[in-house]
Amino acid sequence: MIHVLFVCLGNICRSPMAEAIFRDLVRKEGLENEITADSAGTGDWHIGQAPHSGTQKILTENAIGYEGIQARRVEKEDLIKFDYIIAMDNKNLQDLKRLGHVHGYIGRLSDFVPNGDWTDVPDPYFTGNFNEVYDLVTDGCNRLLARIRNERGI
Ligand code: 4NP
Repeated sequence: MIHVLFVCLGNICRSPMAEAIFRDLVRKEGLENEITADSAGTGDWHIGQAPHSGTQKILTENAIGYEGIQARRVEKEDLIKFDYIIAMDNKNLQDLKRLGHVHGYIGRLSDFVPNGDWTDVPDPYFTGNFNEVYDLVTDGCNRLLARIRNERGI
């Protein structure tokens, strides 16, 4: 089993959206028995909460489920447990690297988008633009899944 963790600041907007989109792609490609997805936040303000209403809305509009997704804080043990840790922005990545030793791959979602004109997924908690995030995260997740399939031969 390959374990993928998406990380943002609050774990209510971007990373739960990435988790839901990635999980949907994995299911559509019939890889549920090979790949799992989870998400977490570097901050603790929203622990236990469901995704933000803006994230819920755009996922529902695109017929993507988000059952069972609940905000949690990233833990040091996550750095060992997960094979791919995918940060939504550079600050998240720096905070994760400070947390401890990482066992597998760690990087930003934008690292999978060659020639992309973005490095950080803009935080919709502040911008209010959930559509933009949906487009970037969908592109990034498709490319991430293709990379994992290629690297792992699945
Ligand atoms: P996220 O957005 O990191 O994409 O989940 C945020 C959610 C909440 C806060 C910041 C960013 N906050 O400051 O509470």
